Amino acid sequence: MKIQMYNNPIFYDLCTKNKKDDIPFYLDWANNCKGKILEIASGTGRVAEPLINSGHNYTGLDISPKFISFTQEKYSKGNFIYGDMRNFSLGQQFDLIILPFNSFLHLLNQKDMKACLKSIKKHLSNDGLFILDIFIPDPEFIYRDSKKKYKEMVIDHPSEGKYIIWQTSEFDELKEISYINWFFENEKKQTTYEYEFAMSIIYPDTMDRILTETGFIINEKKGDYNGELFDENSLLQLYVCSKT
Ligand SMILES: C[S@@+](CC[C@H](N)C(=O)[O-])C[C@H]1O[C@@H](n2cnc3c(N)ncnc32)[C@H](O)[C@@H]1O
Repeated sequence: MKIQMYNNPIFYDLCTKNKKDDIPFYLDWANNCKGKILEIASGTGRVAEPLINSGHNYTGLDISPKFISFTQEKYSKGNFIYGDMRNFSLGQQFDLIILPFNSFLHLLNQKDMKACLKSIKKHLSNDGLFILDIFIPDPEFIYRDSKKKYKEMVIDHPSEGKYIIWQTSEFDELKEISYINWFFENEKKQTTYEYEFAMSIIYPDTMDRILTETGFIINEKKGDYNGELFDENSLLQLYVCSKT
């Protein structure tokens, strides 16, 4: 059976349970900003939770109505709004806008990427900061055998038991998009789910160009959540930007 991960808070939370390495990074920037924070593509509240619990004025925007109702119910002190990051109008500006955990890579062409960045710019206060977090393309992942299933992770579903998640991926070199399939195989082999998604593969020079062409100044480019500056060994592209 096909599933849509972004309609399914239980599966999303199980699959991202161990992703915690970026939280101190976002908390630090939030503590330094003292104003309103907007998270683009807020998901099920993985980043929202620690920010709201630390007393920040937090708004999340996401395209999944299911995730928006789930997070609004769970975190009543936050403000969760349904919207498309490519074109949104919230009628207010924010002092810190964050776009964590590769969500920007769901935009599959440069027109959508630039539309998103323009919407973000409109919502950023004059001395506000915008933080973008995407991974560095890994040739070993991009060019691996598209016919082979690779083990991605094991999750423990509360009522359905353990699932092994296998992954296949195929890279379209012309479009610079990776098409990915996840196969959820239940330990009892009674249930299988399939989840398909696509991700843009964005190289650092392209990301630098798209940001500057949409009027952002790249204040800092970090290569990890500890704040190390970006270099040829970095695994992440972590941009801290302001408006021109
Ligand atoms: C990888 S999850 C990240 C969620 C959360 N920020 C986190 O760090 O756990 C990607 C999120 O992007 C959202 N999303 C995808 N396309 C979007 C769009 N065009 N506009 C707004 N949200 C979008 C999905 O619904 C999903 O919640």
